[in-house]
Amino acid sequence: MRKFVLAAALLAAMPVAAQAADAEAGKAVFGKCKACHQTGPGAKNAVGPHLDDVFGRKAGALADFKYSDALKNSGITWDEANLHEWLKDPKKKVPGNKMVFMGLKDDADIDNLIAFLKTGGK
Ligand code: HEC
Repeated sequence: MRKFVLAAALLAAMPVAAQAADAEAGKAVFGKCKACHQTGPGAKNAVGPHLDDVFGRKAGALADFKYSDALKNSGITWDEANLHEWLKDPKKKVPGNKMVFMGLKDDADIDNLIAFLKTGGK
């Protein structure tokens, strides 16, 4: 009986440990990007390009934002892997780009943020 209870407790705890990325939590992390980026209704380019529907887009693709040549010519498409590397360390991912951001340390924050961007950011 004791064993059963323990197993049941472990099972109950598992979904938390294996939790998928959380877009709501990612929206909160996006607070760190808001100084430069907008998403949602009426989002405009600011210091950085607006990030509506950035997931799946080619890097540097908005016609009305003046990107660095480094980003425009990077050949990157913003999928999960590329966004993860970019948000961890933008300078390392695309040397010479002009996003002045030191990167996010916490991988869970990054995954949640990507989940938020995947929703279209709206
Ligand atoms: C200090 C301002 C600043 C902050 C803070 C910032 N960014 Fe940026 N971001 C930029 C600029 C400027 C660019 C354009 C870079 C270039 O052209 O080289 C950019 C580009 C991007 C791009 C590429 C967009 C495209 O159209 O290719 C993504 C994705 C992005 N930022 C995500 C984020 C996220 C997510 C955060 C928050 C964790 C963030 N940025 C924080 C300024 C910023």
